[in-house]
Amino acid sequence: MNRRVHDAVAAGYNSGSGIIADKNREVAQHLAERLRPRPGPLAVADLGVGDGAMLAQLAALGLPLEMTGLDVSAAMLRLAQARIPLKAVHAPAQRAREVLPAAAFDAVLAHFILAYVDRHTLLAQARDLLAPGGVLSLVTTTEEGGGPFFEGLDRFFLTSRNPLKRAMGRLCERGIAQSHVPKSYASLEAEIRVAGLVVLRRDTMRQHITFENAEDAYRFGIEEGWAANFLAMPGVPVRAAQALARWGTRQATYPFSFTQVIEMLEIGVAPTGSATEDGG
Ligand SMILES: C[S@@+](CC[C@H](N)C(=O)[O-])C[C@H]1O[C@@H](n2cnc3c(N)ncnc32)[C@H](O)[C@@H]1O
Repeated sequence: MNRRVHDAVAAGYNSGSGIIADKNREVAQHLAERLRPRPGPLAVADLGVGDGAMLAQLAALGLPLEMTGLDVSAAMLRLAQARIPLKAVHAPAQRAREVLPAAAFDAVLAHFILAYVDRHTLLAQARDLLAPGGVLSLVTTTEEGGGPFFEGLDRFFLTSRNPLKRAMGRLCERGIAQSHVPKSYASLEAEIRVAGLVVLRRDTMRQHITFENAEDAYRFGIEEGWAANFLAMPGVPVRAAQALARWGTRQATYPFSFTQVIEMLEIGVAPTGSATEDGG
């Protein structure tokens, strides 16, 4: 995935309200409880650190953190460094274990990066980074609340008589196909087990979202980055892709509502011998 897309998203990234803010508050509370008994300082690596708001929330709870943030976007890393004392690593999460020390982190965070990073790769990288007894905090949406999106895609675009709208629909499908967001919690949990990991805690957050108009849809999908994959069109400048997205959001009818289902997991390394045969 394309760094310039995420640099563009950094300009409008919103961790101050909505899904990201609610997720950060809740995850930080639970993670702090889990980490508090461990002797400090606590090494934490955030893969896809974004603007650093999650680490800032954790640090505000009084934990003695040594924070490392990895991201493909230099603009995101600058935002994070302006917020917290951070060792910034400009690299993709797919290469985390090449650029970060093995078995060194009390906590590894991976929040909302499964849209860009293959699940198997991410779980394997994170597992190798964890110190003994360390925890992986994995947060992701699933496709469970996505029904209205797929219906809208069909109704407004893919089955339209207008060839431009149908082409738009295919571009959306292309963006969706690039994502590694799991279908359901059950499918993700099976992959976690195969990776030799085990879910220690699961919280599910359901956020009801309504777009009153095209502006709302554009702000959510493009400015805040929830549909960032749409912008990653080979050979198309981000500004042109943004203009296309703006046109696209005007073709739907509003209000448009859906539910984001968000899984917030604490994951540990499974005791030896408990991995399934697939996982070795
Ligand atoms: C939706 S934001 C989430 C940011 C943060 N984790 C949070 O929960 O607020 C996704 C972040 O992942 C970064 N990213 C995208 N692809 C990545 C990759 N392959 N490796 C590392 N970071 C990536 C983006 O630049 C962005 O900062």
